[in-house]
Amino acid sequence: MKILIIYDSIYKNTEKIAESIKKNIKGEIKLIKIDNFNKNDLKKINLLIIGSPTHAGRGSEKINNFLKSINNNELKDIKIAVFDTGINSKDTKLFLKIVIKILGYASKYIEKELIKKGAISIIKPKTFFVLDKKGPLKEKELEYAKNWANKINSIINK
Ligand SMILES: Cc1cc2nc3c(=O)[nH]c(=O)nc-3n(C[C@H](O)[C@H](O)[C@H](O)COP(=O)(O)O)c2cc1C
Repeated sequence: MKILIIYDSIYKNTEKIAESIKKNIKGEIKLIKIDNFNKNDLKKINLLIIGSPTHAGRGSEKINNFLKSINNNELKDIKIAVFDTGINSKDTKLFLKIVIKILGYASKYIEKELIKKGAISIIKPKTFFVLDKKGPLKEKELEYAKNWANKINSIINK
């Protein structure tokens, strides 16, 4: 199973989750930051895992541009699993709580866009929580990342 993990991260929180997923997933894995992504990386992969910080309910600018750069059907039959990092609305004051609830998290948006390009989602998009804009990750999120990776392992090795 050839697996490619692409992520973006401004303050390194999404990067830590991506690294934990890489460590815990079984297969031939390549982990790349979006800045180093090249369309050739998509060749011959079976599973694409994408991670992004949530920015205004969507992906980071670079992840959003990546989504736009993919042609229709370019991801035909490629399996995907999408995660993001964001702030739990429970941890914020009323105004932000409402904004976060309305905008939602990046992973759902990214999943929807990738499905439009022919991809097949194999697991529910997952949000890992940070305590504030720059982090840190909430306690246990790295453990949750390990659990999410193991869930993917059981799905792909069925
Ligand atoms: C421009 C900007 C917009 C953001 N918008 C949201 C948002 O809509 N919802 C949310 O939960 N967090 C939002 N955040 C907080 C980010 O989710 C947080 O910075 C990110 O999870 C940190 O990941 P990173 O360390 O990998 O950059 C925003 C942060 C920035 C910088």
